[in-house]
Amino acid sequence: MSEIEIFREKEIIGRLMRAKPDPLTGLKLDIWFDYTRKLTNSIKEGDLVAIPNFSADDVYSVCQIIQALPVHFAIPQNLEGYPGFTMEAAKSASQDWIIQEEKSYEDTTKIACQAVPIDLEFKDVPNLTDIDDIPLQQESSLVMPGKEVRLLSTPMLNKIMNILISPQRDNFKVGTLLRDKDVNILVDVEDFVKTHFAIFGFTGVGKSNLVSTIVRKLVSKKSSIEIVLFDLAGEYTALLIDLLSLTDINSHLVCLGNRTLPDSLVRHMGHTEIAPPSRATLEAIVSEPSTPEPENNLPIDQISQQFLNSILLPRTLDTSDIRDKMKPYITDLIRNHKVKVHRDITRLSIRSFLDAIEESIYRSLGEARKIEIREYIEEYLSRFLDAELTPQVARNVADIIHSHPHQQDTTKGRLHIIEHHMERIAREPQILIEPEYSITIPNITSELNNPDRRSLYIVISHDPNSVRSFSNRLIRNAYESRRSTGDKTPLVCFIFDEADEFIPAMPTGTYQESTAAVETLARRGRKYGLGVGLATQRVTYLNTSIMAQPHTYFVSRLPRKTDRERAAEAFSMDEDLFQQTFRFRKGDWLIMSHEALGIQGKPIPIAVENAEDRIRNFLDKPHGNYTLNDLDLE
Ligand SMILES: Nc1ncnc2c1ncn2[C@@H]1O[C@H](COP(=O)(O)OP(=O)(O)O)[C@@H](O)[C@H]1O
Ligand SMILES: [Mg+2]
Repeated sequence: MSEIEIFREKEIIGRLMRAKPDPLTGLKLDIWFDYTRKLTNSIKEGDLVAIPNFSADDVYSVCQIIQALPVHFAIPQNLEGYPGFTMEAAKSASQDWIIQEEKSYEDTTKIACQAVPIDLEFKDVPNLTDIDDIPLQQESSLVMPGKEVRLLSTPMLNKIMNILISPQRDNFKVGTLLRDKDVNILVDVEDFVKTHFAIFGFTGVGKSNLVSTIVRKLVSKKSSIEIVLFDLAGEYTALLIDLLSLTDINSHLVCLGNRTLPDSLVRHMGHTEIAPPSRATLEAIVSEPSTPEPENNLPIDQISQQFLNSILLPRTLDTSDIRDKMKPYITDLIRNHKVKVHRDITRLSIRSFLDAIEESIYRSLGEARKIEIREYIEEYLSRFLDAELTPQVARNVADIIHSHPHQQDTTKGRLHIIEHHMERIAREPQILIEPEYSITIPNITSELNNPDRRSLYIVISHDPNSVRSFSNRLIRNAYESRRSTGDKTPLVCFIFDEADEFIPAMPTGTYQESTAAVETLARRGRKYGLGVGLATQRVTYLNTSIMAQPHTYFVSRLPRKTDRERAAEAFSMDEDLFQQTFRFRKGDWLIMSHEALGIQGKPIPIAVENAEDRIRNFLDKPHGNYTLNDLDLE
């Protein structure tokens, strides 16, 4: 025996009762331990055990426990028998659970475990003093049925769980082994990002929280990394307020459409002017002004208060104390131009404007009326159709419609809608965002390609359609720029929370745009260092071909069987392994990876820190200008 603690609880020895071939895991092993209450609380899913194998003496195969349940053989398994007898047997047997605290006396009580080999073996060489000297290699033989089974120690677990993680490369600690908080589970940054990841779990299990933690860990690595997070629910301003506030990260909230932000903030960021509309201002023009413009801008303090009020906080953080502490950072975000509005400089033609308001012109009209409108446009407006929609052109169009009223009342009314819009464009000033508060897709792409500083872009909007379209245009632009240069760095990670809102199984409309974007990343992003992360609760509704692409998965509770089946299928794993997730608490995850983890292709149950604690700690510090180095990072 070596000097190092290879095994834990040495007196505890299990038995390999049976080994059965299994198409997905190679072998499935049945292992029994004598029951004690203490051991029941110590052996858990994810634990590693050593079992002698046939290759040589003192060579052990490493196997992973995938299920551990106390079983009493005197409690009838078949509940069809005479109930009085069955209950009596159960009652008297139940005493055995309690009396065997640390020592096992009864041979009717066992802890029945299922385990699978993880394709590693080690030799217990005498007199070794350093755990790193233990020869660990690929398994060369089969486990011996009937042989003793030993639990591996914490240092061994730490070593084996991270065996394939190269210390020369960037990695981060994603969490700790669920059973043993002293065992860190490390993830290789490059493999993790480049080969894509997915997060599956029911509402409230902690997906967004995990995304926040992952982003935080990725951003704090040595090599530069760029992150774009599509945030439909608007929850990451709070969940990533620390990173948004750091002065050495190029972090921004990218708002699509002025209406995403409170009016007072939009006015603060822009000026009013009569100007040609662009795609970015279209929405404001088409909709009626919501409130009359006040004469003066509000003071910054009130503006940031209004912005803060509009921000979604996780329930446990949503207290007036936390909001008060967050407020100076929100003010900083505005002052330091970290809040940006996407400027879509694409100019509109009259035709594209008419397309945009098509619904209001033609809604619930019969064919005859529709034809009349089209004929009118053809007769009077055709020469303007492809002209750029400037205030002057709008004036001309409005005048024409005004001076050539249609005879038919309904048609006349609908043409009046066009006239009305044209009048507004010709006459009413619109809010144009100042350059320092504006951002374009080429601006973002060029930062994503910049190795000298790390970027975090959180894309928010009140309108999911614009987020889907935007994701397509941004990803196309970023992909093209990488393709044209062949650059693979810096790594970029595009994260889609609520992924079912981007890549549904049957995409239509703007869903097709986001689906195309994610497909490009999932299939071809790897060679250009562009990765994708997906988080969702409804696996079944996702595009199946994209679902099969990620190499790393996090799975928590999925109450619907179809969701579990889909997730198991995507990773080609045994659905039984999900049984342990039924008992998971918030922040517990089954992580598995073909690429990025220390052991590959095997699910590992982990506990992940609570991102809200991190945010709370950050806000507890005195308000200030912090950099990455000021934060305690793991
Ligand atoms: N790692 C964690 N540890 C402890 N509690 C957590 C953890 N992750 C999430 N929670 C709790 O669960 C709640 C829901 O988390 P959230 O990330 O919003 O879930 P989801 O995105 O899956 O709906 C959080 O507000 C938090 O209180
Ligand atoms: Mg969420």
